[in-house]
Amino acid sequence: MKDVNLKVRIAGVDFQNPVFTCSGTYGMGQEYGELIDLSKLGAVTTKGIADVAWEGNPAPRIWETPSGMLNCIGLQGTGVEVFCQRDLPFLREAGCGVIVNVCGHTNEEYLRVVDRLAEEEGIDLLEINISCPNVKAGGLSLGTDPKLVEEITKECKAHAGQPVMMKLTPNVTDIKEIARAAEAGGADAISLINTLTGMAIDIERQTFRLSNRTGGLSGPAIRPIAVRLVYEAAHAVQIPVVGMGGIASAEDAIEFMLAGARAVSIGSANFWDPQVTLDVIDGIRDYLVRHGIDDVNDLVGAVH
Ligand SMILES: Cc1cc2nc3c(=O)[nH]c(=O)nc-3n(C[C@H](O)[C@H](O)[C@H](O)COP(=O)(O)O)c2cc1C
Repeated sequence: MKDVNLKVRIAGVDFQNPVFTCSGTYGMGQEYGELIDLSKLGAVTTKGIADVAWEGNPAPRIWETPSGMLNCIGLQGTGVEVFCQRDLPFLREAGCGVIVNVCGHTNEEYLRVVDRLAEEEGIDLLEINISCPNVKAGGLSLGTDPKLVEEITKECKAHAGQPVMMKLTPNVTDIKEIARAAEAGGADAISLINTLTGMAIDIERQTFRLSNRTGGLSGPAIRPIAVRLVYEAAHAVQIPVVGMGGIASAEDAIEFMLAGARAVSIGSANFWDPQVTLDVIDGIRDYLVRHGIDDVNDLVGAVH
């Protein structure tokens, strides 16, 4: 088969292909490493890492919806120290890119994680999740206020030992304004979308389906919204965009790249098909050959 280039460069980092995994849907990679060859992926993105252990929300915290799911896991995790000692050594040896997703309730919490990760080798990119409920934003996410987005981006950049990618929430009126705020704060890249806030009610028991009442909607149901938001954000900034939201096939991934994403991440689809990332890589290669395109980068933003 004709040789095509799948390599992409994001924030000065070269990834062997543009297919990553979404934070929170891939653990720290270990379990999926028993099912697929992780060294074939562009990158694995870790579950959100906080400064200390977070318990997460009580059950029930997953509810299946038409073509999607609601979750309120609540960023459960062991904290940055356990991550660095227990999980990072595995990822360093996995042979793919490593993106570490960072979360916090306050700027100080984010910065403690960023500072600790700056001491570590083998991390390609930090992905800062600004969708977490924030103390300063009155329990809303930082990611809904452009001023707070610019401020946290600047602070993370000042502390980071790795390039910084800000992960945007879709639960805003104007994504362009938020993307520009991240760029103004010095972000090296942005990624989107995080989950859309939703709710489901059990009509027989007349109560909420999820312990937290609301949850984040993900999966194919959100894809057209994600494509639109990636398109708008990519046209608002110069920095690279990583697109995600409901990707389950090579066709879906190509749609995001044509809308302006330089790489894509796959989340919920891994739950029903752990091989999906590898099929997407192969499918992108086939598409390029079929269309006589030598370089995957030529797809980026080609529809405008
Ligand atoms: C169970 C679950 C846990 C998630 N945890 C995180 C997280 O820790 N940090 C984060 O930035 N996004 C998290 N997300 C959001 C995903 O990374 C992704 O942005 C979203 O699910 C859209 O992609 P998808 O439709 O392919 O799943 C989580 C999503 C799911 C379904």
